[in-house]
Amino acid sequence: MLRKTANAPLDQLNTLGFAAKASWLVKAEQPNELPEIFDFALSQQLPVFPLGGGSNVIFQGDLKALVLQQQAQALSWPEIEPDELILSVPASYSWQQLVLDTTNKGYFGLENLALIPGQAGAAPIQNIGAYGVELADSLQAVEGYWLPEKSQPAKFAIIDAKDCALGYRDSRFKQDWKGRFVITALQLQLSKQADPRLNYADLKARLAIKLDLATKKQQPEFLNQPLPRLIAEVVSELRRSKLPDPAKLANAGSFFKNPVITKQQAEELLTLFPKMPHYPATNGCKLAAAWLIEQCGFKGAKRGSVGVHEQQALVLVHNGGGTAQDLLALAEEITTAVKTRFNVQLEREPELVNL
Ligand code: EPU
Repeated sequence: MLRKTANAPLDQLNTLGFAAKASWLVKAEQPNELPEIFDFALSQQLPVFPLGGGSNVIFQGDLKALVLQQQAQALSWPEIEPDELILSVPASYSWQQLVLDTTNKGYFGLENLALIPGQAGAAPIQNIGAYGVELADSLQAVEGYWLPEKSQPAKFAIIDAKDCALGYRDSRFKQDWKGRFVITALQLQLSKQADPRLNYADLKARLAIKLDLATKKQQPEFLNQPLPRLIAEVVSELRRSKLPDPAKLANAGSFFKNPVITKQQAEELLTLFPKMPHYPATNGCKLAAAWLIEQCGFKGAKRGSVGVHEQQALVLVHNGGGTAQDLLALAEEITTAVKTRFNVQLEREPELVNL
């Protein structure tokens, strides 16, 4: 018997807090319920929209779709924890809980990705990343369910991470596999071998200060924590200082990707704006979208019930009572201003859902 609700409100299920209803909301306890759920969607002639933590979606209106929510399942740890481990993580597992669990046990891999909202299953879709690390660095494989297509019946499969085209906030799950594969679990490679990734200057500096203080104050309970746990804690502090907590102020994290431009265009811009932050990228030069937006005067800007966050110009916020249209209008205003001033095109990062 499927656990399904008709005309289900989604307001609490998206961190931007926009009002929307789904034709059906169906909760799956186990991946083996997926075939029945897809049969039901087919009988209703509705597409299936898998929803994780709802932290990277913009609902533009009601969804004429079956919204699928996978229900939380526990992690299963081996009795003896090996130094090198491939951990299978159910899609519905909270990402932050996963970071806490793995780092508390002394495993390196996910510590720089602390406090990212959402569920594990959504992580490969945009290849989540922060503080110099991205999911691609530890993802081995993705487990899931291929929807039926003309040329092939539905089937469960394991896809090697190498075949997912994981890029900067990008993957095949967002591109040609969009709407075709439901992620049910991740296989992550974790290690107890010390491998701190501290290239991000703020992170390295803050960790050093904390370690120094704890040594001077002789706080063994702090110093005896596993290093990955300490790094996760410092990352969490950094994030709390800049990024709004979606539970308190509705938002979807970074609203734009950091744009990549050619080296030549970057050099031209740097002669005009010598202080412009820029980073090497494989195919050119990456700019800080937040800086471009701030230069155009939008940091802290308000447009009715939506606005730009006061501490991080890359985050758009919703103060309640607004709509996706209000937010998209503000995004358009920002995109146009940045294009006019810097001739740089900003790209939206969260998924616009219009079914
Ligand atoms: N900056 C500004 N104004 C601001 C904020 C930042 O000028 O309002 C400048 C900073 O001074 C710095 C540069 O922009 O020189 C980069 O800022 P920051 O390190 O805060 O990171 P970001 O590039 O704005 C990215 C990710 C975040 C991730 C941080 C930390 C994207 C789209 N965003 O932001 O990811 O937490 O790096 O690694 O890549 C998310 O995807 O939802 C997200 C929050």
